[in-house]
Amino acid sequence: MKIIKAKDYAEMSRKAANIISAQVIMKPDCVLGLATGSSPIGTYKQLIEWYEKGDLDFSAVKSVNLDEYKGLTAEHDQSYAYFMYENLFKHINIDMANTNLPNGMAEDADAECARYNGVIDSLGGIDLQLLGLGHNGHIGFNEPDDTFPTLTHLVTLTQSTINANSRLFASIDEVPGYAFTMGIQTIMQAKKVLMVVSGADKADIVAKAFFGPVTPQVPASVLQLHSDFTLVADEAALSKVVTA
Ligand code: GLP
Repeated sequence: MKIIKAKDYAEMSRKAANIISAQVIMKPDCVLGLATGSSPIGTYKQLIEWYEKGDLDFSAVKSVNLDEYKGLTAEHDQSYAYFMYENLFKHINIDMANTNLPNGMAEDADAECARYNGVIDSLGGIDLQLLGLGHNGHIGFNEPDDTFPTLTHLVTLTQSTINANSRLFASIDEVPGYAFTMGIQTIMQAKKVLMVVSGADKADIVAKAFFGPVTPQVPASVLQLHSDFTLVADEAALSKVVTA
């Protein structure tokens, strides 16, 4: 595990965007695993800026997103499909046909999970997976559990996640109770994993996940076992751990 300390959110975003840029430059047809939430927004903004300057070309890049709420259409302003389009895809030259998310409106959840696993397999796996970190240690929507879920599955969101994400909805009753998420095995099979974390409210979970035992009760802790995992975090998020 490599920890890169940033001064603040802006510096964290630039450092993470640099790592993603290097991936896209080294392998223009790479498969990027993408994430939603507030944490990666600055990273996406930075990538857009460099794209606009002509430094980056996404025309051959393929993407797979971590997760999607069940029951939200791609047009719903809280769906992750909408988030990705608004915060990244519409600003760069990625081919929308090369972008993939679980279909939140799929009626047969098992079939949708199998389809999504098939998509990831057909792309040959993920070159670089970007992640945020939930307050309870979730990655994607892999919530604390007794075992590490392996492949794409439907999850019941915990109250803590519903509460945290309700800030983005008109009311808490509108937050879906279920979501599709890529599993831990798929994330662990990504060649590189890059996590962005910012803010004092994440300091406890950063200490627990990366300086505590590896346990499915803190899903992100499994990343300690990944051979190429980089955590880019700001000083506030690292305030409960000793770093160089
Ligand atoms: C959501 C997403 C996660 C994200 C997490 C943290 O639940 N499913 O992928 O990492 O929240 O979000 P934020 O970055 O807004 O703190």
